[in-house]
Amino acid sequence: MARRRMVYEGKAKILYEGPEPGTLIQFFKDDTTAGNGEKHEMIDGKGVLNNRLSEHFMSGLNAIGVPTHFIKRLNMREQLVRAVEIIPLEVVVRNVAAGSMSKRLGIEEGSPLPRPIVEFYYKNDDLGDPLVTEEHIIAFGWATQQDLDDMVALALRVNDFMSGMMMGVGIKLVDFKIEIGRVYEGDFQRLIVADEISPDSCRLWDLKTGEKLDKDVFRRDLGSVSDAYTEVAKRLGVMPRQNGSTTGPKLVH
Ligand code: C5P
Repeated sequence: MARRRMVYEGKAKILYEGPEPGTLIQFFKDDTTAGNGEKHEMIDGKGVLNNRLSEHFMSGLNAIGVPTHFIKRLNMREQLVRAVEIIPLEVVVRNVAAGSMSKRLGIEEGSPLPRPIVEFYYKNDDLGDPLVTEEHIIAFGWATQQDLDDMVALALRVNDFMSGMMMGVGIKLVDFKIEIGRVYEGDFQRLIVADEISPDSCRLWDLKTGEKLDKDVFRRDLGSVSDAYTEVAKRLGVMPRQNGSTTGPKLVH
């Protein structure tokens, strides 16, 4: 069998050339990193869970008209996605103060924010992905003002959708990060959600107990990462069974 051409290897995923031009295969690894790769472990089955969860979120977004790169899941660890030109920014939306915002601004973790706050970080591992302003983004040509407006609108739609979905299964969406890419359609370009949406890139807290069900379990050594991610998958009804079907959603009263 011919070897596939690897296009890119990141910390948690690999991109391979897809079967048709304009497509890629996104492979989810078990590698788990924090602190810009300083902490690194293999967490058995994490890639399988994130593949399923990202499929669930992205196909839901596609269904409500929020465009994403997701086309279809291929197997336990791989999905077919549209190739995009990634904008070199991490777009973070926060509903509750936590993580780097709490540290930077001295706001206690868990304080609700007056409205969702959108932040941009410049994707650059050597610099530790610094927070940047719209001025930097436009001056350095990473995106245009129109792109920025579109990115904020896209990020807020993702926030509404994800917040509602998580709320339905008893989970608070505290914050999340997305990446956005450009696709060209004739003379037009469009921005679409790319990369992944999973507990690796979101903060998810149990509504009743405040228990963390996301990558902070790994970052802060709070227990079993796979138990936390499995709990999210179970509640959403996307827990893979032996026969490949899923379990169906579990209502939370
Ligand atoms: O660390 P910070 O508080 O800025 O993270 C905000 C959100 O973005 C968290 O949900 C975190 O998981 C996510 N994030 C990410 N990848 C990064 C940085 C942050 O997924 N490189």
